[in-house]
Amino acid sequence: MYLQGKHILLGVTGGIAAYKACELTRRLRDAGAIVRVVMTRAALEFVTPLSFQALSGHPVRTDLFDEQAEAGMGHIELARWADAVLVAPCSADFMARLAAGRADDLLSTLCLASDAPLAIAPAMNRQMWANAATQANRDALGARGVSIFGPASGEQACGETGEGRMLEAAELVERLSALFATGALAGRTVLISAGPTREALDPVRYLSNRSSGRMGYALAEAAREAGARVLLVSGPVALPTPRGVERIEVESAAQMFDAVMARIDEVDLFIGAAAVADYRPAAVAGQKIKKTASQLTLELERTPDILAAVAAREPRPFVVGFAAETQDLEAHARDKLSRKHLDMIAANDVSAGRGFDVEDNALEVFWADGHASLPQQSKARLARELVALIAGRMSGA
Ligand code: CTP
Repeated sequence: MYLQGKHILLGVTGGIAAYKACELTRRLRDAGAIVRVVMTRAALEFVTPLSFQALSGHPVRTDLFDEQAEAGMGHIELARWADAVLVAPCSADFMARLAAGRADDLLSTLCLASDAPLAIAPAMNRQMWANAATQANRDALGARGVSIFGPASGEQACGETGEGRMLEAAELVERLSALFATGALAGRTVLISAGPTREALDPVRYLSNRSSGRMGYALAEAAREAGARVLLVSGPVALPTPRGVERIEVESAAQMFDAVMARIDEVDLFIGAAAVADYRPAAVAGQKIKKTASQLTLELERTPDILAAVAAREPRPFVVGFAAETQDLEAHARDKLSRKHLDMIAANDVSAGRGFDVEDNALEVFWADGHASLPQQSKARLARELVALIAGRMSGA
């Protein structure tokens, strides 16, 4: 199941199957998804927004021009928030509007404005489904990459029997979850370093940094979704271990180095997402350092460079590093790429409160003869894009 923590925008259109979207909302949340519901005007004739508000735990949006709602989360923001959009039930009319690219209500606008995967679960009378117009819309949407879940065959609310019933909630949850399972790293083992390190000064003090570990953890999750076996060597962070990921906890740069090297021979891909301390105290005091002198000078020494050490191995995995830069991003990143003999480097601009300990991020990715810009978005989405990019490079695409 890949829906843990995913932002799912559930669109409900007008049809008797709208009541089934209530169960769907509950099941999506049971699967760990965060669900926001948008209803069309016609859907309001079948179910009340209050039901979805109670089930999703979030206010339900129905209008494009709702000043109050726009003041909270604007529709473009909502479109960007979504990791996937599922329209269930999707009426014949809504299919036609999607196919035509209309944006005359909130849900159709969101479908146009979001670059997240879009799935629809058609539900309608069998004649309406079989109609050449609907079939042409289905084909057009399918050709544009819209995932079409169902419909199923069976008895219909109108008393007829045939194809047009909405798939059951459990099946929709499974299909939606499968959208996140790309298989791009199937059969590969990935090792990711994440989080900060702590370099002890004495038994109670250490030097560390503000890394939250979010980027590394998001990468671990994305690599897992892409079908990889994932090892996560992590400094101290306050994040849960992503499902299906083997987490190895360390504190210092030296411990991280040892933990990475102990497993590196199993690995096809190494991603150095940790903010490893570059220096550590040259000597660790055996007892707590007392405040006696008016000034205290610490002597620091370099820590081992884990990323460079992995890249220097023979044979070596595909090696991806990170770079945090405040100026001349490309020049510094490319210098790091060649100096450390990396296959790829993902650079972020940390000049203005970006990159470290924040939810959103943007990355500039460089490799010997190429470059890609991954725009500002949640670290979860960014991680999926970076994993897709890495998988493409690894397979020589
Ligand atoms: N890294 C590492 N081991 C270290 C230091 C860094 O594996 N001892 C990895 C990080 O995980 C990251 C990359 O190297 O992938 C960052 O490189 P680094 O040279 O530390 O760059 P910055 O700290 O961003 O910058 P600078 O070189 O300018 O200090």
